[in-house]
Amino acid sequence: MTASVATVSGLGPAGCGKDDGDEGPLLDGAAYFPQSVASGDPRAESVILWTRVEDPELADSDAELQLELSADPEFTSLLELEGEARTVVPAQAQFDRCAKAKVRGLEPATTYYYRFIHTRADGRYVSPVGRTKTAPAADSDAKLRFAYVSCQDFNGRYYNAYAHMATMDLDFIVHLGDYIYETTGDPTFQKTSGRATTFTDKAGAIGFKVGTDKEYYAASSLSNYRELYRTYRSDAALRKIHETVPMICTWDDHEFSDDAHGANATYFDGREDESDPDRRRRANQAWFEYMPVDYQTEDFEYDPEQAFPGDIQIYRDFTFGKHVRLVMTDLRSHRTDHLIPEQAFPGTVVLTEAELLAELSELPEAASPYIDVDTFAGGAYKTALVAAASELDFDPAVITGNLDAVHVNNLIAKLADPGVAAISDAELMTLERGLAYRQLGKLGNYAAIGSRYLVVKDTFDLWARINYKKSGGKTQDAMGAEQQQWFLDTMKGAKETWKLWGNEYCLVPLVIDLTNFPIAPFNHKFYMNVDQWDGMRDRRSEILGELSQLQNVVALTGDIHAFYAGVPGTNDDPSKHIVELVGSGISSGTFATMLVLQVAADPILSATPGASDLAGNIDQLFRGTGTNRHLAHADSTRNGFVTVELDGAELVATYHATEEANTFVDLTTSADLASKFTTERFKVEVGKPDLLKEINGAWKRWDPASNDYV
Ligand SMILES: [Fe+2]
Repeated sequence: MTASVATVSGLGPAGCGKDDGDEGPLLDGAAYFPQSVASGDPRAESVILWTRVEDPELADSDAELQLELSADPEFTSLLELEGEARTVVPAQAQFDRCAKAKVRGLEPATTYYYRFIHTRADGRYVSPVGRTKTAPAADSDAKLRFAYVSCQDFNGRYYNAYAHMATMDLDFIVHLGDYIYETTGDPTFQKTSGRATTFTDKAGAIGFKVGTDKEYYAASSLSNYRELYRTYRSDAALRKIHETVPMICTWDDHEFSDDAHGANATYFDGREDESDPDRRRRANQAWFEYMPVDYQTEDFEYDPEQAFPGDIQIYRDFTFGKHVRLVMTDLRSHRTDHLIPEQAFPGTVVLTEAELLAELSELPEAASPYIDVDTFAGGAYKTALVAAASELDFDPAVITGNLDAVHVNNLIAKLADPGVAAISDAELMTLERGLAYRQLGKLGNYAAIGSRYLVVKDTFDLWARINYKKSGGKTQDAMGAEQQQWFLDTMKGAKETWKLWGNEYCLVPLVIDLTNFPIAPFNHKFYMNVDQWDGMRDRRSEILGELSQLQNVVALTGDIHAFYAGVPGTNDDPSKHIVELVGSGISSGTFATMLVLQVAADPILSATPGASDLAGNIDQLFRGTGTNRHLAHADSTRNGFVTVELDGAELVATYHATEEANTFVDLTTSADLASKFTTERFKVEVGKPDLLKEINGAWKRWDPASNDYV
C-alpha cells in the first residue's frame, strides 16, 4: 500500500525536501508538540493531518517536520509518502508553527496512524501518535457511526463529555461550532470561577469592566485567538479525542464573536459600530491554523493577507459510502444582521396604518397610536424629547418621523419638567395606529432583549414578512446567495441515502406562550432567540420547502446548548418538513442557565416578577403548552453530545446527556464517568420524514397534530 502527499494544504509551501534520514533513535517529543496531533476532513482517499511544534530554540525561524504514516500504532512498517519513508511538512512561524498535511492516495475505510518528528541538534523528537480513518468508498454499503458536538466553553467547565465519547468506536466527529469562546468569562453566560482562559496580549484584546474585579476580555489580536486554541487544547480529554478520531468542523459565532454576523460583533448593543473585518480575518486565520480543516477548493492556498470575507470559504460537503452526504454550512460569515437593531428606539414606528391595511384586512390588536413627532403640536414633543435624550439614554437623532404615542407619553412621564403634557386619551383615540419596535418586544434603547432575544412572535412575523417582500427577499439571509445556491444544489444532487446538514443554529421554532402572563408587556407569544433561524423564518420556510421535496434529509444542529428534536417545516404547511436533531453543548452553560443569567442581566426583565421563574421552567413552556407542535423533545438543562448510527434503512441518534453541574467538575479520569450520562434514542426510517423516539422499548412517532408520540 502506498500513500502520497500531494500537497501541504493551506499552511505554507509544499515540502520540497524528502526524507532526510532516520539517523538516531526517536525521543519522546510530547513537550515540543503541546497541542498534540489531530486529523480532519476524512475522505475516501485523503485526510488532513495536523500538529503544531513549539520550541524556544526556533526563535523566529520556520521549522520543518517529518511526517510518518503507518498501518499499525507501533509503526513497525512505514507507508510510503511520495516514494519515501517520510515527507517534510513545513511549520512556518507566520502560521504559529501549525503544520498541516493533506495526505492523498489512501485506501477507503482504513485506519491509519501518523506522527510528526521535530529534528533538533540534540536528537529527533516524535509527537504523540495520531489515529485516523478514511471515509468508505462511494460504492460502499458500510454502516457508519459518528458523533456530533458543539459549544465547549473552557471557563470553569470540563470536557467529561469528550472523555466519555473517547470510549466509543467512532468513524468521525462533526463539530458544529463554538470550539472556542472568544471571551475570558463574560458573566452574562460564562462561569467566572474555576479554570480560566487569559490573554498574554491584553492590550490587543477588547476589555470589559477593566480595572474592576469583574474585568474580562474578548479576543481581538491574532495572539489572543491563537492563545485560546492553545488553552483549549491544554485539556487532555480534548487532545485525546483529536488523537483518535478525525473531526469535520465548521464554526459558529464564538470562533469570532458572540452573536456575530459577518464581521460585526454585538457586545455593545448598538452603542458603537462593531464592524471589524480585520478582527474577523484574524479570528479566521487562527481557526484555519489550529483546526484540522481542508479547504473547499483543491488549489487553495491560505493567504492571511486577503480581506474578509475573501480570506476563507469553509462550507463544504463530504461523502461516506452509499449512505451519507454530509453538507457543512457557514451560517455566520455571510448572514444578514438581526432584523431588529440592538439600538432600535422602542418608539420608532416600523409599520404605519396604511402599510398594515395594505397587508391585512384590519388593523392587528397590537396596533398602537402614533404621532409624527416632527410636526405634532408644532414640534413641541420633539423639542422636549430631544432635550431629554441624554437623561433617558437614547440618541436624539431617533426623535423623528412617526413615534409611538404611548411610548412618548411614557418618556414624558419620566421627566421632572418636560414642558409638554401627556397626549390625552381623547387625542390618542383620534390618531392613526401602527406598530413600533416596542410592539415587537423592544423595550430598552440599547438592548439584546427585543433585538436578538425575546421577540414578540406575531408582530415580528408580520413585520419580517412585509420587510422580506419589500426587499425582494434580501433580508433574512443566513448563507448569502452563493452558498445557498451551492447548498441547495448539493442537497438536491446528492445520490446518497441520507442527506445530512451540519447546521449551526436551530431550525425548529422555539416559542413560549406568555399570553396569560399577568404582567404587560410580557403577555404575548415570544421567540426565545432570533439570532437563529427563527429570525429568518421566511427564508427558512423557502429552504425547508425545497428540502422537504427530497428524501431523508436530517439536520444535525448545535449552538443552542440544549437537546431538542423535531420536524421543522414551512410557514404555511407543516406537512412540508424535515427532521432536525439538536445536540446540546459539550460543556457550555445550558440554554436554561443562560436564560436565567440573561434575565438577571437585563434591567427590565430582572425587575419583572416571575421572569426568572419562567426562565427556569423553559422546557415546560416549550413542551407543555402545544405552542411548539413541531418540537418533539426539549431538554434545556443538560450537556452532552449525540452519536448517530446509520445504514441504508434507518438512522438512529442517541442523545448522551449529563447534568450541567457535572461539567463544573473534572470527571474525565473518573472510573464511574459513564454512569454520569443517560441516553435517549431517536430514529428516522428511510423514506419517511417522521421522527421516532424510543419509549419503554418501543418506537413511537411524533405526531404534531396531537402534540404527542403515537
Ligand atoms: Fe455556544
